[in-house]
Amino acid sequence: MGQESPRSRGLAWWQREAFYEVYPRSFQDSDGDGVGDLRGLLQRLDYLAQLGVGAVWLTPFYPSPQRDFGYDVSDYCEVDPTMGTRADFDRLVAEAHRRGLRVVVDLVANHTSSEHPWFVQSRTSRTNPKRDWYVWRDPAPDGGPPNNWLSFFGGPAWTFDAASGQYYLHQFLPEQPDLNYRDPEVVEAMVQVVRFWLDRGVDGFRLDAAWLLVEDASFRDEPPNPTWRPGMRERDRLLHPYTEDQPETHEVLRQFRAVLDEYQDRGPVLIGEVYLPVPQLVRYYGSPDRPECHFPFNFALVELPPERWNATEVRRLVDSYEAALPPWAWPSWVLGNHDRPRVATRLGEEGSRLAHMLLLTLRGTPTLYYGDELGMVDGSIPPDRVRDRAGFREWGGRWSRDAARTPMQWDATAHAGFTTGEPWLPVNPDASWRHVAAQEQDGRSFLNLVRRLLRLRRAHPALVAGRYVPVGAPPGVLAYRREVEGEVLLVALNFAETPARLAAGGYVLLSTHLDREGLERDLELRPREGLVVAPYAEAR
Ligand code: GLC
Repeated sequence: MGQESPRSRGLAWWQREAFYEVYPRSFQDSDGDGVGDLRGLLQRLDYLAQLGVGAVWLTPFYPSPQRDFGYDVSDYCEVDPTMGTRADFDRLVAEAHRRGLRVVVDLVANHTSSEHPWFVQSRTSRTNPKRDWYVWRDPAPDGGPPNNWLSFFGGPAWTFDAASGQYYLHQFLPEQPDLNYRDPEVVEAMVQVVRFWLDRGVDGFRLDAAWLLVEDASFRDEPPNPTWRPGMRERDRLLHPYTEDQPETHEVLRQFRAVLDEYQDRGPVLIGEVYLPVPQLVRYYGSPDRPECHFPFNFALVELPPERWNATEVRRLVDSYEAALPPWAWPSWVLGNHDRPRVATRLGEEGSRLAHMLLLTLRGTPTLYYGDELGMVDGSIPPDRVRDRAGFREWGGRWSRDAARTPMQWDATAHAGFTTGEPWLPVNPDASWRHVAAQEQDGRSFLNLVRRLLRLRRAHPALVAGRYVPVGAPPGVLAYRREVEGEVLLVALNFAETPARLAAGGYVLLSTHLDREGLERDLELRPREGLVVAPYAEAR
């Protein structure tokens, strides 16, 4: 599966391939209920194969009351009826594999739905055998929550259960109670889930909320955050030394990883969702002897505020990440996901083209977010159609995650070809002209830029296996070489609004404008243009 050139041999598939995140509710509906499903995705596998990605990460499709659209799982080993059946899933995996595409699924391990039978049992009484599977605590002396911990989605991280007289912990919604990973039975139960999907043929997992699995054993109050200011999320009024990044979390990750490593023939991947500063982030690789994630997602580019999206800041960010990685650790790059404003909204279309050239030429595994390859922007969702209760609360009502989850824009037919029914979220108005069918016809479209970049990665081992070597460049330009034995490529990205000249020449393989190719003596970069070049010295 995938393509292996002699010089990228020795790398694992998850190092060679680009990943593509599909939010199944919004990708393709096959039955007209307005919600995307597995059969819909199946119909679009050819599109993904032609795009040139090598792995699809599917966000949750498991049975769920949908309070957090699948991130509240009520059965880990089934398919939600709105998404299809287990047979549909099996077919999807088989058809993906037939096309050389791997399938990675979401492992929502930190919490279940409050309707999961485990929690239903756990809350029946203090002596129920499943009681300890969740985090229950007595009220504080005044009857309030046991401590000051706050939830990601607003309000306390504790909800009182009147029937049993205790509070339970939820880092997210009250309908998402946290599992207690200090209980070995819980670890074992989740290991069974991991085996279940591996036995069904999946190629790995994206571990949801990986840095939040375990909390402080003595439930200490978290200290106030001195840098909090209005507009920041409510939870960040506090620092999080006791609810994030606990040493015991790493122990759980090692156990998950050990199970994946039993499936050596397939080499499944474990990717962690970890929102932490780089020095803490890199600990989620574990060590060569005691590995954890194959890579934690690196969200540095997602979190970089648009006003700081310039050559100097991006260089600093890339160089410090590269420097912090242990020599054996493999990098990861991401521009967007289903929880954050879309990259084309943050940076504009030209900025986003440049960002995609960066994403697909840096050292490490890139993950694309569905629709970003078209330059899709955030939808503006009328208040009465906002469905994302959680994200709405997290962003203080200024933004909801729905904006980044609007239906994929396929063609000029009704609802952009997403559904024949009423879509669960409104289709963006720009879908009348911004869609796959139109961009396939337009040689200079965003879609064709992404396809060309992905093709370039496959054709040039330097882009996959090569070292990252920063090179000097005029102000406003970020330039680096990717070097592998026998091949060197130069990438030059002009973040500025003014032209720039690089004292280098070579064969231009690709411009973000898709209108130039061939030998050039001096490289002139237009405003916001990026180039991939085979430099002279190596061309000779
Ligand atoms: C992760 C998911 C997000 C979800 C949360 C709780 O951050 O990406 O969508 O709401 O976990 O599961």
